Amino acid sequence: MKAAGKLMKVFVTRRIPQEGMKILSSAADCEVSLWDSDEPVPKAELLKSVQGAHGLLCLLTDKIDAEVLDAAGPNLKVISTLSVGFDHLALDEIKKRGIRLGYTPDVLTDATAELTVALLLATARRLPEGVEEVKNGGWSAWKPLWLCGYGLSGSTVGVIGLGRIGMAIAQRLMPFGVKRLLYSGRTAKPHAAEVNGEFVPIDTLVSESDFIVVSCSLTPETQGLCNKAMFSKMKNTAVFINSSRGAVVNQEDLYEALSSGQIAAAGLDVTTPEPLPTNHPLLKLKNCVVLPHIGSATYSTRGVMSVLAAQNLLGGLQGTDMPSELSL
Ligand code: NDP
Ligand code: DGY
Repeated sequence: MKAAGKLMKVFVTRRIPQEGMKILSSAADCEVSLWDSDEPVPKAELLKSVQGAHGLLCLLTDKIDAEVLDAAGPNLKVISTLSVGFDHLALDEIKKRGIRLGYTPDVLTDATAELTVALLLATARRLPEGVEEVKNGGWSAWKPLWLCGYGLSGSTVGVIGLGRIGMAIAQRLMPFGVKRLLYSGRTAKPHAAEVNGEFVPIDTLVSESDFIVVSCSLTPETQGLCNKAMFSKMKNTAVFINSSRGAVVNQEDLYEALSSGQIAAAGLDVTTPEPLPTNHPLLKLKNCVVLPHIGSATYSTRGVMSVLAAQNLLGGLQGTDMPSELSL
């Protein structure tokens, strides 16, 4: 693969699973350089390493803005992100420069839905608290009123954003005996019929649901969507789960809702910032379960994501089909 007889330069912003790395390394005429670390590449290093690159394989922790694109220069043909979310990318700037964009939808849907269900159950049934009590001697006897939580059977579940992952979450929750499945978004979804989903205004969803699951993408419209006004409409027994992006939630408002008893509990796989500082007030609350953004973290899923990201990158470099191209 040559650009005017020269090697195509590719910069990969982190160690990625070997399945994907092998594909890149074995691509003829492709010179791959890697930020060889499990930690994010510092911005200054990114600006330096991306210079002259034809392809960039990045992660959701890399903010790809005009400054990075300018540093890359006119060679840059393709950006491939190892994620389905693309809120870290300046889409308008990428489009303006005619750069193609690859991402990793579908292959992580099952893993993320599974983790979201695990988080919902852990939060609603107070699993981290229970484990802690066993370890710290708080478990004195079986007690009828101790560590009670909320069950899914007969409940109403509200999904904000019934996309690929939202739908997969709904499919997994229904067999627990969920009575009603509500969802909200910009448009009604034909696939919702599979889970008897009712398309409702978001106010109806938040006021009628026992479990509220956020699985929408982060956009200017969804930024800060889950705020004081929304929490104040929820049931006092509501369990709130977010596995989309931290910025969809106003965390100060969530803290207030949790500490005042406005809602029962929250489970978050995503926060602002990430990592959440260890002294963050949310971490002091027993009714808040926080995970370190591990929705897609199974060995096989991360492997398949890396393969798809590598294939997207090579397709973009070759000017052929990319298996998952985001149309801009
Ligand atoms: P999809 O594009 O399939 O789904 C996104 C959904 O967001 C759509 O159904 C869309 O509904 C909805 N949405 C957009 N705007 C709004 C709005 N204003 N109000 C309510 N809903 C809205 O993406 P995926 O399901 O594949 O992924 C969703 C997100 O999950 C990703 O963008 C990413 O941020 C996050 N994610 C997190 C992971 C983790 O590790 N925790 C792992 C993977 C993904 P409509 O079509 O009606 O606009
Ligand atoms: C994504 O893909 O957007 C996730 O947040 C990580 O898999």
